[in-house]
Amino acid sequence: MSFLLWATQGIREQSGRGHALRTVPSAGARHALETYLCILGVEGLARGFYRYLPLEQQLVVEYRDENVAGKIASAAFEQNWMSSAAVVFVWSTIPYRMEWRYGLAAHKVILLDAGHVCQNLYLACEAIGAGTCAVAAYDQELMDQLLRIDGKDECVIYLAAAGKVS
Ligand SMILES: Cc1cc2nc3c(=O)[nH]c(=O)nc-3n(C[C@H](O)[C@H](O)[C@H](O)COP(=O)(O)O)c2cc1C
Repeated sequence: MSFLLWATQGIREQSGRGHALRTVPSAGARHALETYLCILGVEGLARGFYRYLPLEQQLVVEYRDENVAGKIASAAFEQNWMSSAAVVFVWSTIPYRMEWRYGLAAHKVILLDAGHVCQNLYLACEAIGAGTCAVAAYDQELMDQLLRIDGKDECVIYLAAAGKVS
């Protein structure tokens, strides 16, 4: 988990001018994404939602929930196969981090950034014998509610289910 988080949003270098460079590119190094993990079956981690802290390389528990597998599949238009993943990465965006600098073009580059992040998850999973599948089919309101984010200043934009390849 630690490797996958680092490979998708980890900090590679911190400049003296207050911005951080990560393991993925980002337009203007704005990094308008947050990474949440929906943990379904990972040794040492209780089921529930966690948020990644890139600077500390740590996880914050958002909330624990034994029934999270059914809830995430259901918010993804009943894609029940997702319930058998070990973890579902859920990326949200806080658009203002990009908008203050790029205006309307912010929305294009946020989506491009998200594509890079998910591509790195594919590559990192491949490197450790795991697998992943991108997911963009989900109910916006239900998924935002599941993450307990407001859907306005912060909203979900992309997911990926991952686990060991059997
Ligand atoms: C932006 C995007 C959204 C996707 N959303 C879903 C999804 O909601 N459910 C799903 O099962 N697969 C989803 N996929 C996976 C595609 O169905 C899959 O990549 C495609 O069928 C090609 O298969 P491959 O990745 O094995 O080459 C998505 C892929 C991308 C890039």
